[in-house]
Amino acid sequence: MAGSGAAEDRASQSVVYEYLAWAVAWLLIGSFYGTLAAWKFVFPDLLPVEWHSFGRIRPIHTTSIFSGWLSLGLIGLAYLVVCRTSRRPLFSAALARIALWLLNVALLAGLLTLSLGMTRGPVEYREWLAPIAAFFAAGVILNGINIFLTLLWRRTEEIYISNWFILGAFAWAPTLYVVAYLPAFDSGMANVVIQAYFMHVVLGLWFTPLVVGITYWSLPRLLRKPIYSYALGVLAFWANLIFYPLIGAHHFIFAPLPWWLQSTAIALGIGMLIPVIATSANFLLTMRGSWRFIRHEPALWFIMAGALCYALASAQGTLQAFRTANALLHFSNNTIGHAHFTAYGFVSFLLFGAIYGQRLFTAKGPAAPHVRLQFWLSLGGLAIYVVAMTASGVLQGLSWAAERPFIESVAASAPWYLLRAIGGSLMALSHMVLAWNLRLMRPQQQLLPAAAAEPAQ
Ligand code: HEM
Ligand code: HEM
Repeated sequence: MAGSGAAEDRASQSVVYEYLAWAVAWLLIGSFYGTLAAWKFVFPDLLPVEWHSFGRIRPIHTTSIFSGWLSLGLIGLAYLVVCRTSRRPLFSAALARIALWLLNVALLAGLLTLSLGMTRGPVEYREWLAPIAAFFAAGVILNGINIFLTLLWRRTEEIYISNWFILGAFAWAPTLYVVAYLPAFDSGMANVVIQAYFMHVVLGLWFTPLVVGITYWSLPRLLRKPIYSYALGVLAFWANLIFYPLIGAHHFIFAPLPWWLQSTAIALGIGMLIPVIATSANFLLTMRGSWRFIRHEPALWFIMAGALCYALASAQGTLQAFRTANALLHFSNNTIGHAHFTAYGFVSFLLFGAIYGQRLFTAKGPAAPHVRLQFWLSLGGLAIYVVAMTASGVLQGLSWAAERPFIESVAASAPWYLLRAIGGSLMALSHMVLAWNLRLMRPQQQLLPAAAAEPAQ
């Protein structure tokens, strides 16, 4: 791109960086609250102030991580992917910045109100008061419009597979939000059904398509060759859309929800293995003949670990939905382990990989040992976290099934809580390394030529 094109391109890249910088800021905030919550299981009297009580910091942790880190990071990279694959700058950098501020205002207001104990109640991941959620939704919709218009005026004939996933995520998000916040569904069993719907659709039709779409760009770009199979990508896109909306009820197996709804959710959880295997196999098979790149490119480590976690953690999800397993595990720490195995091991690792993998901002970037340091801290912390929570979850389930006194399961979990706090602290440390590394990726005057290393499509 030359002349004003280059300036516009630089403006788009600055927007991407701003989203990523804010995403990492919210990751640090969310990690602080997560680490504090984890250590409170070890030292229950730690910071005994109301606004740092467990009930308040837990939703601050989850919303900062989901709506801050994951959503801002994925939107920022979606902008990058859409611009690169359309071979044109962003439709409007100003609109993207307005949207960023709407999202940030919502996140900050959410943090403050939750600290003060102001919440919509025990509705996980939708605890924010409705006006705050409206700000957030407005930000997402503006981003969706911006992405749609950028793609509409693309300079390429086809819509690359990444953009199917990205467009899909932005198309489904408004429905998700409207359904989640409709007052008509705020009470009784309707609230449980909608809670189930929201909880899983936000994971499956927002985070998953965004991160999968982004990886369909970042992985081939790193390897300088096309993705293994475009058809597998299309299969995963449709299968994900067909199976996900109806599996939410697996969060409430044995709850007084219609039995058929629970059975449908369990069956479709098996069906979900189709898009999961199609996607992770596609990523792994793309590496065929290119494993030599892995020695020099730590971004690939994140992507490969992310693809493996997607397959393994989803298989764990399918199994824990079965009634026999769920009866044992539902109320236990096993679910917490699964949540981090997926949201961190799958979504965050692919996101880390995409952040490190693009070399658009600067010719310098962080040194490979610093990226590797983050990788080992993140992976080591995650492994400790997931093993600790899975083991203690199984012990809890067995103890409850044997109808032993509840306190016995608490005592049995104590060493695992300590281990979780250590693993979580390592993850938090790895995020500080990420923040340091990202600082070195600030956009420079001298950018690498935009089209120099686009993925073969
Ligand atoms: C085949 C795919 C998957 C299946 C069948 C599945 C199944 C499940 C089940 C049954 C639960 C509820 C456990 C319980 O409360 O008893 C659950 C919880 C959860 N899953 Fe998955 N899962 C899958 C993939 C994923 C993915 C890809 C993500 C992240 C992007 C994810 C994130 C979560 C989270 C965060 C929770 C905890 C929700 C909560 O109670 O707060 N899962 N999953
Ligand atoms: C920085 C390290 C982290 C630590 C120490 C940490 C710790 C915690 C703790 C203590 C809880 C509450 C568990 C409970 O109720 O017993 C929690 C919940 C949760 N965290 Fe984290 N976390 C960290 C990072 C993350 C990241 C990066 C993500 C997502 C990308 C994440 C996603 C979640 C989710 C989805 C839940 C709700 C789980 C459920 O209810 O099943 N956490 N975390």
